Amino acid sequence: MSALTNDLKQLTVLAEKHARWDGFFRQQLHLMPPVGWLNDPNGLCQFKGIYHSFFQYAPFNVNGGVKLWGHYTSADMIDWKYEGAVLYPDQPFDCSGVYSGSALVEEGRMYLYYTGNVKLEDREDYDYICTGREANTILVTSEDGLHFSRKRELMRNSDYPSDLTMHVRDPKVWKEDGKYYMIQGARTKKNTGQAIVFQSEDRRNWAYRSRVCTDKPFGYMWECPDYINVEGMKILSVSVQGLTGAEWVDHNVYQSGYFLVKGNILGEYGLSEYRLWDYGFDYYAPQSFQTEDGRVVLIAWMGMPDCEEYTNRTIEEGWQHCFTFPREVYRKGDAICQRPVRELESRKQKLMTASDSMNMEGHPVYEAYISGVKKNQFRAVLGKELILEYRSGRFEMRFADQNRESVSAGRSLRYADMEKLENVRILTDVSSAEVFLNDGEFVFTTRYYPEKGSFFAEAKGAEIEFFKITQN
Ligand code: FRU
Repeated sequence: MSALTNDLKQLTVLAEKHARWDGFFRQQLHLMPPVGWLNDPNGLCQFKGIYHSFFQYAPFNVNGGVKLWGHYTSADMIDWKYEGAVLYPDQPFDCSGVYSGSALVEEGRMYLYYTGNVKLEDREDYDYICTGREANTILVTSEDGLHFSRKRELMRNSDYPSDLTMHVRDPKVWKEDGKYYMIQGARTKKNTGQAIVFQSEDRRNWAYRSRVCTDKPFGYMWECPDYINVEGMKILSVSVQGLTGAEWVDHNVYQSGYFLVKGNILGEYGLSEYRLWDYGFDYYAPQSFQTEDGRVVLIAWMGMPDCEEYTNRTIEEGWQHCFTFPREVYRKGDAICQRPVRELESRKQKLMTASDSMNMEGHPVYEAYISGVKKNQFRAVLGKELILEYRSGRFEMRFADQNRESVSAGRSLRYADMEKLENVRILTDVSSAEVFLNDGEFVFTTRYYPEKGSFFAEAKGAEIEFFKITQN
């Protein structure tokens, strides 16, 4: 181990010694950084029965900074064990950050592919788009999921097509018909977002193969692409920067969604309209993986970069952000739906069933399920000020008070147009709410900061069930 790696390791441990696990807004079910900042999920996989979730981690700076990979493991995707930081920015090819990437599990080995971010020293003639930075593709392997090989540099910018800027990142790797494929997000020199596909015979030697793009330009940068097969339906998930125009007003600054793919991105393909994974305030950079029993599970960063209206109230506790609760992605006809992973069922304890309305106080971590919604009549209030309501053809998530010190931390409104509301599942942790509508065809996710857990719902003619979620 180099002296730099050794020092970074010791500094991380030192920072973590000061972690305040007792912070008031600390979550119970959701994965958070021990200290400092977390963003994207990385290297998600089930390996030899154990779930692994790596994450973009900045332990020294609660507002983000140079990125490491932190590491959690779990037997059930609910209770996670922190395993420490595993990949440090300690090489010339990743010295400005161990950026996002994915895992390929094969023949008893874990292959982790990531982007080595390099930002060259400040110079006036660097624009940091076409010049002044590098994005290198790096591989690390592991036999036990806990000890990792040396880093191996696989590709650098000169290996990528020459019409791309230096923004190429976030490799996701899969195997199809005996060959390996890698998709990366990119920004072209004409400022359009694309996904770039590479191919390999041996997981180590890679060559550019093809690209995926929309007919008309769609944003200036695509991040974290993911090619997912949901029960035979192929979808391309991308996190997009630079969507502007009427359609995107009242939305987040960046979007995470997917295209349905007709054909195969490796051959002839057509992309559908872009659909959002989530309509809430806090959702970005999702990554999928397949469980050993064949489910597609999706985890995202429950956060949003460059989000000015917002004051995250956990900063005062020395940490920031968490992941979404793991979600199964499944089909309902031609709709792609999401629901909390079924492992949650064994932790649910039903406290009450009612029709028409319900009021519950004093439970910060719960699931509420409202079924048989009649004539779209639905309204719920969480933590006294987060309002979920169907009105005028829309489902709204809005805050009663936009004071930065309040439950909202400065947020106002998000909505989705929908004709008919049938059911609502609300998964609430100490400082987050995930709301699944119509079996998860629409989802709204947000952080919020209530003083006390409280739940009120009214839905005339519907059944309302309330489950407390217990810790092991
Ligand atoms: C998405 C992202 C990725 C990048 C990582 C850096 O949130 O910008 O494209 O690899 O975060 O932390």
